[in-house]
Order: sequence, then structure tokens, then C-alpha cells
Amino acid sequence: MPDYYFETVDLKFELGEDKTIVSSKIAVHPRVEGVSSPLVLNGHDLKLVSVKVDGNELKKEDYHVSSRHLTLSSPPSSTFTLEIVTEIYPQSNTSLEGLYKSSGNFCTQCEAEGFRKITFYQDRPDIMAKYTCRIEADKSLYPVLLSNGNLIEEGDLQGGKHYALWEDPFKKPSYLFALVAGQLESRDDTFVTCSGRTVVLRIWTPSQDVPKTAHAMYSLKAAMKWDEEVFGLEYDLDLFNIVAVPDFNMGAMENKSLNIFNSKLVLASPETATDMDYAAILGVIGHEYFHNWTGNRVTCRDWFQLSLKEGLTVFRDQEFSSDMGSRTVKRISDVSKLRSYQFPQDAGPMAHPVRPHSYIKMDNFYTVTVYEKGAEVVRMYKTLLGSSGFRKGMDLYFKRHDGQAVTCEDFFAAMRDANGADFANFLLWYSQAGTPRLKVTTSYNPETRTYSLKFSQEVPPTPGQPVKEPMFIPVAVGLLDSSGKDIPLTTVYNDGRLQTVASTDEPVFTTVLRVTKKEEEFVFSDIAERPVPSLLRGYSAPVRLDSDLTESDLFFLLAHDSDGFNRWEAGQVLARKLMLNLVSDYQKNIPLALNPMLWMELEAY
Ligand code: PHE
Ligand code: ZN
Repeated sequence: MPDYYFETVDLKFELGEDKTIVSSKIAVHPRVEGVSSPLVLNGHDLKLVSVKVDGNELKKEDYHVSSRHLTLSSPPSSTFTLEIVTEIYPQSNTSLEGLYKSSGNFCTQCEAEGFRKITFYQDRPDIMAKYTCRIEADKSLYPVLLSNGNLIEEGDLQGGKHYALWEDPFKKPSYLFALVAGQLESRDDTFVTCSGRTVVLRIWTPSQDVPKTAHAMYSLKAAMKWDEEVFGLEYDLDLFNIVAVPDFNMGAMENKSLNIFNSKLVLASPETATDMDYAAILGVIGHEYFHNWTGNRVTCRDWFQLSLKEGLTVFRDQEFSSDMGSRTVKRISDVSKLRSYQFPQDAGPMAHPVRPHSYIKMDNFYTVTVYEKGAEVVRMYKTLLGSSGFRKGMDLYFKRHDGQAVTCEDFFAAMRDANGADFANFLLWYSQAGTPRLKVTTSYNPETRTYSLKFSQEVPPTPGQPVKEPMFIPVAVGLLDSSGKDIPLTTVYNDGRLQTVASTDEPVFTTVLRVTKKEEEFVFSDIAERPVPSLLRGYSAPVRLDSDLTESDLFFLLAHDSDGFNRWEAGQVLARKLMLNLVSDYQKNIPLALNPMLWMELEAY
């Protein structure tokens, strides 16, 4: 816990060609009134000009500056004002962190630890404060001056300069601060929220690129509407800005009401952009917009909790893209990405849990594990709780934590408490690295008319985690009869204990088995013939699945499964099997012939 909290932060930037002067005025209060402890501020490549406490310049012996910190040895033990002036050199900052210049424009990037390159600050996400930002700059070189929140005041200054004063009424961590100044033009539009407020939307680019922002604007409006409809989340300010810059490390950044994007994720023209470019723009515009609630209004207590905002927001953008296009196609592409990038990471020397235990440099921890596997973890809550249960969990999460910096357990607890759910050892998904291997053996007993699925699981060792515990794996299952139709499921026995599957008169065709042990058997009763199982429907858990399904089972699923993802998956597993058969035929000098069933199945369509 920090010893001091920051209530308000008033920033002033005097932007110049050879130096920029940053003045910061912070209302500080000690966590425990009456207790003074050293106040340690982060700073990186900063030239300190002055420090004042309650208006008085500090004497040399009252503070200490090192290459990474400014320490006030004994600040006042009750609320005080801290004023710091620093000098920085954005024109020679090539780190793409802090304040830098991109194609002649000033621009910031503060996540994760870039704010400390702007001014001395407690640069950690649990320090949430209300900011104002005054920007002064040459008017002809930098006609557009942007920061977070609402524009309160603007005007001309002497010497060809002008200024703008921005005020962000929402508390935020320093990593969400942003400033942009330069020669930009905007595409403007409006969005009327569900409560009837009109929000001005602006997408800023160099003037020649404005025509290429139409799809980005469409995507933004679609995202705003979707978040209202699906999660009841309304945008909270009257202005939303997006800026496209050519020099940007990551895809984009969710700074409060001033999202900054790599140009390639904003600009598209029908002449040159592919369908995939359009889909990427929709997804990333959605992603950054959705952070306004999952990341900004509710943020991370510390950077170990990164997946709290990223896993959840990736899940939200995946769902958004699914609803805007084809759910099955989107799921296939997301699972393919997970398998080709995250699985290798989870199996290699960089394997780490969704919530890492340590990091050397925070900017190296924006990984496919934190993002994509993190999204799968969020998806499992939804699979276990259903859409309405998941929504209840989200509602409780915001009710409890709006305006706070919280942890993955807080999210877990909101999901659990809103539904009175039993999530067993689910939290292991955050702490154990490695992709679990799940084996399934099936058997049908015509006498008892029962169908059994025997599961066994293994989580491979990963660096620093030689021994693993069994995980809680939600396995969505359906059973197909010989005509290819889903069999209505009524009851299933888990290690002998009876579970009712259908709680209402509505027939149930997919049920979620809760596999929690190293070995566990599920038995479906009342099954009239040997079914073909559709296992892990919709890819209900991020595991490697081995089953005893035969080639003919796979052909059958490819033709009939009502779950689109599994129909595709059956084709993948089958094609791999057939190719490997051909390899072994070749090695035995057997003439190569493609299984004719494959053509028959394909012709059926
Ligand atoms: N938070 C950004 C996102 O997920 C990614 C990012 C991280 C951008 C760090 C810049 C620096 O949308
Ligand atoms: Zn994100």
C-alpha cells in the first residue's frame, strides 16, 4: 500500500522545440493522517528544476534526486501541495514512451511506466487522481492541443502561442494520461447514448488521411452501441477522441477519452485494405473503447493484475466482433491464434501464468498469455455461468469496484458472489502456467443405456513450476444420435453422483461438465444408442484435447455437428490424421490414395 495518495494533479506543459517544461501541482495526503514517511517518486531521464511543498521551495537537504527517484525525506504528515517543475526533451526521445515526437507532432505513451519520463510521480496504477492539463505551444506548428477529459478553456498567448486547458472529471492512474499536439484534422460525428446524451466523436489524423477513417468511425459507433446493449455500459463523457500516429510500438492505447492508435489500425481505403484489415480495425477500435469500463473506470491494483483488464477486454472485443460478424468464424480465428502463438509460449522457456509472479521489465509482459489465454479464462466464467449469469457477475464487479484499482481475485469474487457459484479450484488458471492436456476415453453400455466419458488431465511442468495441481476444466459436451441430431440430455453422473442437466422443460443439447480432478468419470443415462460425442464445444477451455474418436466419428461430426467450431475442429483433426496415414503409407511403399470418404462428405455440401 502506498504511504501517500494523490487527490488532484494539475499539469502544465510548455511545449518547445529544444525543451519542454512540465509543471505539476499535486494535492497529496498521507494514508495515515499524522504519520510522515519518506515520499518516493519515480522519475526517468528528467531534469529537475524545482520542488515546492505548500508553496515553499525545498532546501537541498529536504530531498534527494537519483537517476530513477525523487525522495522527499519528511514531507508534512497531513494534506499538502507538492509542486514540481521538470525539463524534458521530447524531440530526442526515441523510446516511444513518455512524451515524444512522431512525424512532427507531440504525443505521449504512458502505459506501463512512461509517465515517470514526463514528471516525478508515484507512477503506479493504484494511485488514482483527477487531472487537469494545460498545454501551451506555438499556434502555427501545433494548432491542435488535446488531452484527457473535457476542453475547459482555450485561447491565444503572446509570441504566436496558444493554450488549451483540459479537465478529466474521472480519477485515473497515471498510465492513462495522454497529450497530443500537432497539425491534425478530424473526422467528426456524434453518438447519442442510451440515456440520450450526445457524445462528440473525433478521429484525428494528418489531413490527407481523414478520408481513410470512415471504417474506424463506423467501428467506434458500433462499439459504443454494443457495450450499451450487451453490458449496459454507457460512455461517460461528452467527447471521445482517437488519434492515429505512425510511430507507435503496440497496436493502440486506451488513454481516457483520448485513444492513440498505430495508424495501420485506423486507416483503411477500399482500394487497398483487405477484409482482414477491416476486421482488425473493428476489433481494436472496440478493444480500446471497451477499456473505458474494463481498465479505466476499474483498473489494476498493480501490473501483476494486467490480465484483469487485458484478458477481460480481449474477451469483450472478441464477443463484439462475433456479434458483428460470424461467431463461428471469429472463434476459429481466435482459437487458431491461441494455438499458434500462446501454446508455444506456454510450452517454452518464456512460459508464465496469466498472472505473472515476477517481471524484470513491465513492457515485456504484454504477452499472448496475459491477453489471449487471459481472455479464455474470462470466457470460461461465461461458459460456466451462461450469458445472464456472466452479466450478473459483471454488474456486481462494476457496482463493487467502480473507481478502484483491483485484483483478479476481485473479479473472480464478483462472478462467484453474483451467482452463488462454486468455482472449486478455478483460480489456478491465474497462477499455473502450461497448457493442460486432457484425455477422454468413451464407452457405451447398451444394457444400462449409459454412455461414459473418462477424463484424465495433466499440466506439463514449466520454468519454476515443476509440479502442477489438476485444474478446473469446463468441458462443453453434446451427443449426436445416428441421424446426426443432438440427443436431449437429462441426467449425468459425476463419479457416481447424480446431476440433473435440464432444469426446465426446455431440452438441453449441450452441457458443461466440470472436470476438476486428475481422473474423473461422467456417465450419461438414458442414451438409446451409441452416440458420437461432440467434446469441448466452442473450445470451452484452453487445453490440448486427446480423444479416442475414430476417423468415422470425425467424418460424422464434420458433417453433422450443430456446433460450428467443432465441425471445423473435426475437419482439422481428421485432415491431420489422414495426412499422417499417408506419410506412413508412403514409408511402407503403399500407393497413396486419399480416403474417398473425404470427397463424399465434401460433396454432401
Ligand atoms: N493497453 C494497450 C491495449 O491493450 C496496449 C499497450 C500496452 C499499448 C503498453 C502501449 C503500451 O490496448
Ligand atoms: Zn488492451
